[in-house]
Amino acid sequence: MAETILSVRNLTQQFKGVLAVDHIRMDLEKGSIYGLIGTNGAGKSTVINMISGSIPPTEGEILFGGKDIGKLDAAGRAKAGIARTFQNLRLFSGQTVLDNVITASQITRKYNLLEMLACMPRYRREEKDFSERAKDALRIMDIERYEDFQADNLPYGLQRRLEIARCLAIRPKLLLLDEPAAGMNPHESLKLVDDIRVIHRTHPEMTILLIEHDMKVVMNLCGYIFVMASGRMIAEGTPKQIYDSEEVISAYLGGIVHRKERA
Ligand SMILES: Nc1ncnc2c1ncn2[C@@H]1O[C@H](COP(=O)(O)OP(=O)(O)OP(=O)(O)O)[C@@H](O)[C@H]1O
Ligand SMILES: [Mg+2]
Repeated sequence: MAETILSVRNLTQQFKGVLAVDHIRMDLEKGSIYGLIGTNGAGKSTVINMISGSIPPTEGEILFGGKDIGKLDAAGRAKAGIARTFQNLRLFSGQTVLDNVITASQITRKYNLLEMLACMPRYRREEKDFSERAKDALRIMDIERYEDFQADNLPYGLQRRLEIARCLAIRPKLLLLDEPAAGMNPHESLKLVDDIRVIHRTHPEMTILLIEHDMKVVMNLCGYIFVMASGRMIAEGTPKQIYDSEEVISAYLGGIVHRKERA
C-alpha cells in the first residue's frame, strides 16, 4: 500500500458567521493526483489555505509525512515540502520570469544572512542550486524561452504556468493547485492538463491536490476525488464512483454534467 503523505483530521475553519470548513477528513497517498471539487463557496480554497499555512485552522490536525505541522508557518511548510498556487495570481511584479522562480524557491534556503553577505560556500552552492532548479522548472512548464521577460508582461495563461513553475522549483512533496486553469482559454487549459501529466510522470513521488471546476479536467487527471458542499466533505472516491453517485449529482454535478452527457 502506498505511503500516506497528508492526513487531515477534523479540519475546521470558522470565519465570522461562516463555517467555511466543517470538520473534514482527508488522506492523500504519495504519488497520486487528487481532485477537490465543489460549488462556489464550498470551502475548497480555505482547505488549501489551512494545509499550506496561509491561515490557521480553528480546529483540527494536519499531519504531513506523519508529523503534525500545525505549528509551522507557511514558510516552514514550504521547507517541509508543501507548495501551492493561488486562485488569484500572486507573482512578483517587476521581476523577470527566472527571478520570480528563484525568489520563490529561496523560501527553502538554509544559509543565513552572514553567509550570504560573506558569499560563503553554502550560500554560493545553494544559489547555484536555486538557479538550476528554477531553470528545470521553467523547462517542465515549457516557458524557459521567456526567462528574461518581465513576469507582468507575459500573457495571462503563461503567468499561470509560471506560478506552477515557482512551486516546482522547491521540489515539493505535495503540490496544491487552486484552479490553475481559471481564466485560461480552452487551448491553454488543454496544454495545462498535458503539463500536469508530465509533472506527474517526471515526479512520481509528488502528490498533487487539484481544485478545479472543469469536470473534464478533473475526471481526466485525478485518480481520486473529494467533493465538498457548504464546508462539509460530502463524498470521495474514484472518478467513476463520483460520476455515478446520486448524492454528488444532486448536490453538485447536476448543474454541470447533463444527463445527456452521462448517457
Ligand atoms: N477570509 C475570509 N473571511 C471570511 N469569510 C471567508 C474568508 N475566506 C473565505 N470565506 C468564506 O468561506 C466560504 C468558503 O470560501 P472558499 O473561498 O474556501 O470557497 P471555494 O470552495 O474555494 O469557492 P470558489 O469555488 O468560489 O473559489 C465562503 O462562504 C467564503 O465567502
Ligand atoms: Mg476557491
